[in-house]
Amino acid sequence: MAKSAVFILLATCVASLSALSPLSRSLDGLPADRPLNIAHRGSSGMLPEHTVEAYQLAVQQGADVIECDLAVTKDLLLVCTHDSWLNDTTDVASHLEFRDRVQTYRVDGRRITDYFTIDFTLDELKTLRKKQDRSYRDQTYNGEFPMASFDEYVAVAKNVTNGRTIGIYPETKNPDFFNSILAAHNTTMEEILLESLQRHGYTEATSPCFVQSFDEDSLRFMSGRTELPLIYLTPVGLTNTKLAEISTFCSGLGTSKDTIVQVNPNTMKIIQTSDFIDRAHSYQLEVHAYTFRNEDQFLARDYGSDPYREYEMFVEIGVDGLFTDFPWSLSRHMEYRALRGSAISSHRLPYLALMTALTFAFSFNARY
Ligand SMILES: *[C@@H]1O[C@H](CO)[C@@H](O)[C@H](O)[C@H]1NC(C)=O
Ligand SMILES: *[C@@H]1O[C@H](CO)[C@@H](O)[C@H](O)[C@H]1NC(C)=O
Ligand SMILES: *[C@@H]1O[C@H](CO)[C@@H](O)[C@H](O)[C@H]1NC(C)=O
Repeated sequence: MAKSAVFILLATCVASLSALSPLSRSLDGLPADRPLNIAHRGSSGMLPEHTVEAYQLAVQQGADVIECDLAVTKDLLLVCTHDSWLNDTTDVASHLEFRDRVQTYRVDGRRITDYFTIDFTLDELKTLRKKQDRSYRDQTYNGEFPMASFDEYVAVAKNVTNGRTIGIYPETKNPDFFNSILAAHNTTMEEILLESLQRHGYTEATSPCFVQSFDEDSLRFMSGRTELPLIYLTPVGLTNTKLAEISTFCSGLGTSKDTIVQVNPNTMKIIQTSDFIDRAHSYQLEVHAYTFRNEDQFLARDYGSDPYREYEMFVEIGVDGLFTDFPWSLSRHMEYRALRGSAISSHRLPYLALMTALTFAFSFNARY
């Protein structure tokens, strides 16, 4: 533990000596001088995800951007949900009128038997109520809030009263699955999304909207039809060859935090940090890391159960945005950084040198 503490402090010092990597782009109204606070599925650590209430709470808690996953309904509208199947996150099973809607589809290589958005109209889906499917999170809002439609999600972002801009971050989720069904309607999930975005005024390269997907073909298709910044989601690091290729049609990457700070899953100790962000930046790709969660089981032991330490680590390495289930913690951390930065800027080096020396002394004592 002591070694890791030293390592983190040293990494912090080294990173502090070099300026933070500049963001490769700035979108209208969004901060460009610090990483973006991206509320993952809304303030999903506190309220059932992908509800208007969770998105609104994220805005109140200081998020810059609210993120949403999309699925298509039977009437070819977009609804916000992490999965296109509904049993885990809604009360659909208790709606007897929908008993006959159970279907089996192959999604992403898996055969899934469940209730699927594509077999419900948006009005039908609005009669369902969301539930928290993570047992360790607050269950007291189960049955309270409906699913959010894409239009309602956008309305939350646009409903800003004090001059703040809230960005949106929609994802084409399992587009292969939807497009196989949508072919009969002569449309695609991508066309439905781009048409909806256009209707809401998101058309420019600087519009406060990132469009994300794990599906490269989906992004390639959209890159020929929109100027909006596209984000390629990848759970693994990429070679320079792949980064060069992705940079021809995307403006950034959404990547698992493990590709940046590798953690041993058994001991939950940091093994090493990678050069992935620097390499992505060298191809003009910005990097947004996922998913930051306050609960202890998601934090490397090195952080001492303190989510601020994890944020600090990633910000110092140069991340351009953080997807978090707890946007309140991240906005508080950003405030803290801003205050601390102005307080110590002229004494930064001696301060960091002193802290390093103290940590060495501490680690020496702690070890024996
Ligand atoms: C839905 O979930 C319930 C448990 O909450 C389960 O009993 C039921 O079999 C599930 N139905 C489908 C279609 O998966
Ligand atoms: C818009 O903001 C007002 C005041 O903050 C709030 O009462 C209303 O519910 C909001 N509407 C949406 C769609 O977020
Ligand atoms: C299918 O859609 C394309 C473009 O969206 C359009 O040009 C074409 O006419 C449509 N075909 C039919 C049969 O509706």
